[in-house]
Amino acid sequence: MSKIPTLRLDRLLANMGYGSRREVQQLVHAGLVVLDGGTISDADERIAVTRDLPERMLVRGRPLDPPPGFVLMVHKPLGATCSHKEAGPLVYGLLPERWRRRDPAISTIGRLDKETSGLLLMTDDGTLLHRIISPRAHIPKRYHVTLDRPLTGDEAAIFAAGTLMLEGEDKPLLPAHMEALSERSAYLTLTEGRYHQVRRMFAAMGNHVTALHRDRIGDLALPADLEPGHYRILSEAELALIFQSAKGP
Ligand code: URA
Repeated sequence: MSKIPTLRLDRLLANMGYGSRREVQQLVHAGLVVLDGGTISDADERIAVTRDLPERMLVRGRPLDPPPGFVLMVHKPLGATCSHKEAGPLVYGLLPERWRRRDPAISTIGRLDKETSGLLLMTDDGTLLHRIISPRAHIPKRYHVTLDRPLTGDEAAIFAAGTLMLEGEDKPLLPAHMEALSERSAYLTLTEGRYHQVRRMFAAMGNHVTALHRDRIGDLALPADLEPGHYRILSEAELALIFQSAKGP
């Protein structure tokens, strides 16, 4: 049985961005932290950090933010960037302001280009992040691709062969699965994530991607009711879907 981690209340709330430890102590002394219906009077109290804490703890009358060790699914809108190095609004700006002061910090699990929309995962769990992005994990990611020119009909076989070499690289791409949907659109499923990979694969075919949207990671699909710019916390069952169809190392 895995042991439930415990943390001092002031450390837990400070790490979650509610303020410095001193500010959190003041919150507690003002009676503004409630657990299971009772006011906590001691900021030193050790709290079992369980997933259901937001249903049991109120801070200033509001449910606690997600405790450490969570994964978000975000519907990344077009124009938002995953990288601090790129100009434009960051995906982190889609989250509540307090979440940006958390320690451990929340990071994106892999990246999507600024002009790509769709399913993006974020987490504060470094171990899980590496399990998902590891090149050995081979987790399939599906993209809906819209093209400038009609498909020639050769693309699926070329992508599946595992021999396509992208410009400037010295290792061929792993086999990828393409399913044509219409003359100018397709699903492309990759098990690796090289820089601008989808766009460069179609550029190598003499085509040009005009719109790109990721709709699946493993067997986890972007829900139809999750609007662009919105996010929600993944359940354990949804998290398991990410790894379900991965082939592993
Ligand atoms: N491939 C791309 O070209 N862009 C993305 O954002 C993801 C995959």
